[in-house]
Amino acid sequence: MIEIVARSGPMREAIRLADRVAATDANVFVTGESGAGKDALALYIHSKSARAQQSFVKIDCATLPSGLLEAELFGYERGAFTGANEAKPGRLEAAHRGTLVLDEIAYLSTDSQAKLLRVIETREFERLGGRKKVTVDARLIALTNVDLSDAVNRQSFREDLYYRLNVMHIAVPPLRERPEDLADLARAFVKSYAAKHGREATEISKEALRLLAEYQFPGNVRELANTIERAVIISSGKRLEVADLPEPIRVAAGAERRRKQPQTLAEIEAAYVQEILETTKGNKTEAARILGISRKNLYEKLARLNRKDEG
Ligand SMILES: Nc1ncnc2c1ncn2[C@@H]1O[C@H](COP(=O)(O)OP(=O)(O)OP(=O)(O)O)[C@@H](O)[C@H]1O
Ligand SMILES: [Mg+2]
Repeated sequence: MIEIVARSGPMREAIRLADRVAATDANVFVTGESGAGKDALALYIHSKSARAQQSFVKIDCATLPSGLLEAELFGYERGAFTGANEAKPGRLEAAHRGTLVLDEIAYLSTDSQAKLLRVIETREFERLGGRKKVTVDARLIALTNVDLSDAVNRQSFREDLYYRLNVMHIAVPPLRERPEDLADLARAFVKSYAAKHGREATEISKEALRLLAEYQFPGNVRELANTIERAVIISSGKRLEVADLPEPIRVAAGAERRRKQPQTLAEIEAAYVQEILETTKGNKTEAARILGISRKNLYEKLARLNRKDEG
């Protein structure tokens, strides 16, 4: 995992809150769109806390059916249900003195919500099929990408638990609302994926960064990470180029740019010629072929562009 990037104002604010809460034992509620960085922030809080050397445990409330989820969370005694041949501590116990992340908390069944509320209030619970009280000291970090207050209105989420969780709320802003983070994130991903895949790429071209900046990234930081990983894998040099970015991103970014800022045909032509030249890594014969013009024609266009740049 790379160092958390927080250059933009909104992300610096999230980190400021995270730093403040990390120093306490308070439970934290982290919201944000899919891929925005909720897990990353949870790990950051843990690593900045006095619990950093203790366990960091996660449970995904969305993937397990209610019964199994409770068995995972609270553990069980031998004979608690068919197949429980041995007693097993749950994730709550595993997180003792450390941090427990409850991912996708909105999916918790109403029964499990009641049990969780009790753990938060008393710091005690019983394993399934057990009567002995287990005391646990774990910081809980609950994550969600859906609007929990909405779930409360629809009565699928307990209001009391919601208010309990909401005491310390940190919102991770979507990537499109913090464009200042994009270049740092992209560069950090280039380095880490180049190391992972044994590629030499260490940087990313200006034009490629500009295209990325024009794309909306509905999948947020995760989508950016995946985009860069793919680009690093197919890249061959020290620098990622426009050509290494996936077609849908190049197309969507171009359309977005034209929507925001109408351009003259000459401007579009100039930008397109530059883009194709980057794609061909400066090979003019190949660029002319793609553009459907003669080499001579391409040289003339470039000469005109250069004069304009200078003038
Ligand atoms: N600010 C950041 N700095 C560096 N890396 C980040 C940052 N935010 C997210 N990442 C990385 O982006 C990827 C996606 O982030 P993460 O898994 O935390 O998103 P999420 O909000 O939990 O998504 P989901 O809702 O799908 O679970 C991870 O690889 C994470 O390490
Ligand atoms: Mg996550």
